[in-house]
Amino acid sequence: MMIRKRFPLNDHWWFAAEFNEAMRLGEIKETWQQVRLPHSVVETPYNYFSEARYQGIWGYGRTIKWSPAAFDIGEDCLESNEWDWILRFEGAAHSAKVYVDGQPIGQHIGGYAAFEFSLPEGVMNGEPHWLSVELDSREQLNCPPFGHVIDYLTYGGLYREVAIERRPKSRITEYYAYGRDLLTANPKLVFEIRQQQEAYIQSGAEGLHISGDELRFELIALPLATDLDGWLAQSKESEDPKEAKEGAEQWTVVLDETVPWTQGGGPLHGSPIRGPQQITLSLPGSKGELWQLWDVDAPYRYRLKVTCIQTNAAGDTIVVDQIVVDLGLREAQFTEEGFFLNGKKTKLTGINRHQSYAYVGYAMPRGPQWQDAHIIKQQLGMNAVRTAHYPQSHHFMEACDVLGILVFTEIPGWQHIGDQEWQKHALAMAEEMVLDYRQHPSIILWGVRINESLDNEQLYRATNDLARKHDPLRQTGGARYLRNSQLLEDVYAFNDFTYNGVAKGQKGILPRGKVTGEKVTAKNHAGYLVSEYNGHMFPTKSFDPVSHRAEHARRHAHVLSAIGGEKGVAGGFAWCLFDYNTHKDFGSGDGICHHGVLDLFRNEKLAAAVYSSQKPIEEGLVLAVDSEVHIGDYPGGAMGPITVYTNAESLRLYQNGTLVGQYKRDAKALQKYRGLKHPPIVLDDLVGNALAVGEGYSDQKAERIKRLLLAGAKFGTDHLPFWAWILAARLVLFEGFRPSDGLRLFSKYIGNWGDAMTQYTFLAMQGETEMGRIELGAGGEPRLQVTVDRPRLIEGETYDVACVRFKSVDAGGMGLPYDQGVVSMSVEGPIEIIGPSVVALQGGMGGTYIKTSRLGREDGAKAQLRIERQGSAQQIIEFIIGNESEEVF
Ligand code: GAL
Repeated sequence: MMIRKRFPLNDHWWFAAEFNEAMRLGEIKETWQQVRLPHSVVETPYNYFSEARYQGIWGYGRTIKWSPAAFDIGEDCLESNEWDWILRFEGAAHSAKVYVDGQPIGQHIGGYAAFEFSLPEGVMNGEPHWLSVELDSREQLNCPPFGHVIDYLTYGGLYREVAIERRPKSRITEYYAYGRDLLTANPKLVFEIRQQQEAYIQSGAEGLHISGDELRFELIALPLATDLDGWLAQSKESEDPKEAKEGAEQWTVVLDETVPWTQGGGPLHGSPIRGPQQITLSLPGSKGELWQLWDVDAPYRYRLKVTCIQTNAAGDTIVVDQIVVDLGLREAQFTEEGFFLNGKKTKLTGINRHQSYAYVGYAMPRGPQWQDAHIIKQQLGMNAVRTAHYPQSHHFMEACDVLGILVFTEIPGWQHIGDQEWQKHALAMAEEMVLDYRQHPSIILWGVRINESLDNEQLYRATNDLARKHDPLRQTGGARYLRNSQLLEDVYAFNDFTYNGVAKGQKGILPRGKVTGEKVTAKNHAGYLVSEYNGHMFPTKSFDPVSHRAEHARRHAHVLSAIGGEKGVAGGFAWCLFDYNTHKDFGSGDGICHHGVLDLFRNEKLAAAVYSSQKPIEEGLVLAVDSEVHIGDYPGGAMGPITVYTNAESLRLYQNGTLVGQYKRDAKALQKYRGLKHPPIVLDDLVGNALAVGEGYSDQKAERIKRLLLAGAKFGTDHLPFWAWILAARLVLFEGFRPSDGLRLFSKYIGNWGDAMTQYTFLAMQGETEMGRIELGAGGEPRLQVTVDRPRLIEGETYDVACVRFKSVDAGGMGLPYDQGVVSMSVEGPIEIIGPSVVALQGGMGGTYIKTSRLGREDGAKAQLRIERQGSAQQIIEFIIGNESEEVF
């Protein structure tokens, strides 16, 4: 039985670059375009475009005509006139006025929250009705995040999904289910509820009573996600785990209990709203028996079904409403000692994420949203994310719940606080955020300050109060660049951009005391974290010179280690996950902030390996070298030391097949990077014992010559330090070494200039076992390596999107960062390319998005993407498109 039902409304929209009478009333014009949601008002170029493009007033409209299927509700449910029909928008950037048959039904201001309106009575009469939206995406709106400059684009559109939901008139309106006292002997499930009793107000007059109501609670364990694709494929609405997987062990029923519900307000007390009421149930057994805690390693989740049953005057029981919520049972606490998850100290290794993509801005459906979560957790091995600087798609949040990612989410805004009206909207956004997102177990902190704004006692007392009122569980925080600012939250979050990589002896982050003064102490148990670091301190393009990309990675390693090693710091969030399009006031003049550890298409830059190499090797080998070993890419041909980011124990290096040596992390590296699980391995000796083996010198003489050669590599042959001159003199005077030998050996083993190129092979070793290897300097013609996140796409609530990435590599599989070749693409079957079908590689990398088209409604339809780098062979990527869509309107 399904009482409530959600009907997606993402297809068959008309879109116009204006909102006029025709759009309000549904007089379809030739200039209008047919679109599907999520939708962006404009498709933007990759870079160099004006933000004026997406700002304006736009029109969306479509017909709604109810089919009888929408009423098909099962026997023991309500009569059709006891339903409300709710129109829900998951997000509209940035202000939406909604009309039905030309009449306004509501307006919502703010681009980052879901909102809903009841559809007027009579819209369900089976006749066509016209739904239209006047959408304003102008940045002059007097609400967050507008009012001053902003370092990100704010885009425009009905960029998240829309649905019509059938709900009973007399229904549960607000609810919140969570665990309490979970680490004690008496763990509980708490359910907070409010109920709207409209139907009963009317029927109450006829003598129906409301006492004797019951609430039935069923708590069922959901299986752990083992494979992202499988989870993505599931459509949340259609599945009822208990029914679908009856008999399967993992679908354990943890609790099935019916309790009377007699308290609260309600018609008897003269109010249509009953509650709030808190119902507390004991969780059976101890944890680990019937139920488990949600944590980052094993994010156990539960599905709670709450059924509201009432008895009418005739003594019949009626199911009035039923809701289904997914939850996790966990305790999360920041204190002055750090962050504790289920009582266990857990360092937050996090990153900031914007919700934007190339070409379509914010408008991406479920697949790419999940893909980002997958990158954070499984690819980079991080355990936390900050949704900078606004609440993000529920798809992304759900992926964080399922994959076990800890989330710091925050209200929209960037540095600026506006006037009273603006602040009123900021408060509304804070309330919307907490009410709409609190059911996600992944959220551990509410950001209730506008990112990097000044102190404002009145506003921030109010945002803190709101968060605490609606969520007794979670703590509050707010990212600042201010030191010693007023602390009304539980956690002082600081964007620590002090590390500039230049000044000697810099630790990476400031000591907590220097930032907070006396505000975080053992007395008040406040927490402290670093909400941003690096970012604009060292913008790095994937096509920057090798030394720049290497320095970018080194800085990430340095700050990550500082955070890891600092006791009272709960953790840090790097700036940022990927490059993002931004306003002209920021970025590199091309409309991009190249601050990501990934590029816009989520291709890894070297700095990504700093994070992924911290993963245990059991999760897969990471082996990344901060050089392409081309001497011609270094000033004077001096490559200097090479740094390798790996989770292997040691490395073996071969030059042209000859073993140079084995390299481990030495005591110095372990001390320098003591906050890292796997510090980088620095190879400052690429000569090893090659002189003894290859040139026949005695071990001691070979060692002395090597020191001389390495000094040349480090300082340049014309700038040798005094000690190296003494060493050279000794070799010449007493050991028969000639200056010409020095030059020959230097060019052979170090400089390589004037000789055939050396090929380097790095073997990653675990004890004596080789875990993997990479070849540098193999050369050969470029080849395009194509990666697709999911070859199986699904036409479900709406279209699906696959993220395709490509990378130009040499014969040894190494990236070619200066390849700017042209890649052309074409498709066959029910798919489309988002953005241009001919693109230039950037940093030897690129990407595209493949979108299913409506033609793919045939289940199992096949499609192909053909992709070709000019001058090399065409590749064909196959897709299969499943169909789970159900069109009611
Ligand atoms: C911070 C800001 C971020 C981003 C970052 C760049 O000040 O909060 O939004 O602009 O700088 O490093």
